[in-house]
Amino acid sequence: MRLLPAVALLAVAGLAQQPDLAASKAAFNKVCGVCHTPESALATRRTKAQWEESIDKMVQLGAKATDDEFAAILDYLVSQYGRDAAADAAPAGGRGGLGGGRFRSSSN
Ligand code: HEC
Repeated sequence: MRLLPAVALLAVAGLAQQPDLAASKAAFNKVCGVCHTPESALATRRTKAQWEESIDKMVQLGAKATDDEFAAILDYLVSQYGRDAAADAAPAGGRGGLGGGRFRSSSN
């Protein structure tokens, strides 16, 4: 299982509706701040596919939220902490870990 189909589908719906950014951020802080600080999840900008992968991985690790919340979180992450898929040939490494070193925020 690579992607949550529900997340992908709802993300598309979410983009059409543009859910409130503040509400999406609140959902992110609530859901993603349970096991690590929200900030640690934001250390690396990711493409939409990479965020989907990360969220899917967090679900496997035990992240709990409604489909709506996951969709809002994905939307928030992609819009605020996304990166251009075309500029990113490398696969999502994912090994950096919490709060970890590989900051790429300067470009973009
Ligand atoms: C049930 C606990 C838990 C929750 C909830 C959780 N995470 Fe994580 N997360 C972890 C653990 C454990 C790691 C470090 C393990 C690893 O990197 O494989 C991690 C690492 C990460 C990383 C860096 C490593 C990677 O795979 O890229 C990101 C980004 C991340 N989480 C994002 C999120 C987001 C976004 C959410 C909310 C949807 C979230 N996390 C919710 C447990 C959780």
